[in-house]
Amino acid sequence: MKYTASSLVKNKFMILGCGFSGSFFAKTIRQLGCTALTSSRSENKDPNSFVFNSEKSVVPNEKIFDGITHILSCIPPDKNGRDPVLGSLKNKLKNLSLEWVGYLSTTGVYGNTKGNWVSETDKANPFHNRSQRRLNCEKEWIESGLPVQIFRLPGIYGPGRSTFEAIKNKKIRVISKKNQVFSRIHVADITNAIIYLLDNKNSLKFHQIINIADDEPCSQLEVIQYCYDLLGLKMPKPILFEDAKEELSPMAQSFWMENRKVSNKLLCETLGYKLIYKNYKKGLKNCFLSS
Ligand SMILES: NC(=O)c1ccc[n+]([C@@H]2O[C@H](COP(=O)([O-])OP(=O)(O)OC[C@H]3O[C@@H](n4cnc5c(N)ncnc54)[C@H](OP(=O)(O)O)[C@@H]3O)[C@@H](O)[C@H]2O)c1
Repeated sequence: MKYTASSLVKNKFMILGCGFSGSFFAKTIRQLGCTALTSSRSENKDPNSFVFNSEKSVVPNEKIFDGITHILSCIPPDKNGRDPVLGSLKNKLKNLSLEWVGYLSTTGVYGNTKGNWVSETDKANPFHNRSQRRLNCEKEWIESGLPVQIFRLPGIYGPGRSTFEAIKNKKIRVISKKNQVFSRIHVADITNAIIYLLDNKNSLKFHQIINIADDEPCSQLEVIQYCYDLLGLKMPKPILFEDAKEELSPMAQSFWMENRKVSNKLLCETLGYKLIYKNYKKGLKNCFLSS
């Protein structure tokens, strides 16, 4: 889907935390003719990049903020559950004439729904400590008084970061757990959904919290099988979760402790966004062809 995004060209974006999602957003918004400055924790050669590292108290100088109208924060919570951006830059941001602030959050805040659908109107019910920390950050952003919009994201994948890399790097674990599903989102749909919302903001009702997820949550096994099929390789025999559990890292184990389907009805039905990759097959085909 192509957007003219003519209403956005005059804006100046600052993307805080230019990792996987942030760099995709920056690249796309620049292709539309917008200015985008990006942060990382260490120096790099990109003239549009600056250093921001809350852990080392390295903050950008005043001039970097000149004319910024839009901010997208892709930085996770710190270990105490505080938001690194608000902890270091809140006063600075409050003195700017910001039209919009986007914050990338996670659907982990919904906790375990035992495989049921969950939407923005459901109360957050974090199960893991990290999800509680994330909910704290969402709260901090909402209470900041900034014009913030929060995007709750499930597992993010895209070219360069998908099951294909796990297979190539021999990091894949083929695990089966009955009735377990995961939601996902292709990185291009995070960017394009946000651009769609910004480009149409005068005609759409503003929603502060929006899920960005694809249409078809499914098992991890289906996804892995599909990747092996595209690669023309035979998938190893799946191991039952109960048998594999002990060998998994605590982080890997924790992902299997929650089971939910994330609804995108607000974004895709009420607000009218059309997904580029409505399911893992379409999204992974794109990753396969881009590699
Ligand atoms: N990965 C997933 O599947 C997933 C799912 C749902 C939600 N999320 C969340 O969505 C957001 C974007 O995800 P992503 O996978 O695109 O992120 P990512 O690639 O891990 O990028 C995170 C960015 O945050 C920066 N950063 C981290 N700590 C910082 C600090 N203390 N001070 C300044 N900058 C800091 C990193 O800097 P450097 O560039 O210097 O490393 C990096 O640019 C994150 O908040 C993530 O937790 C991720």
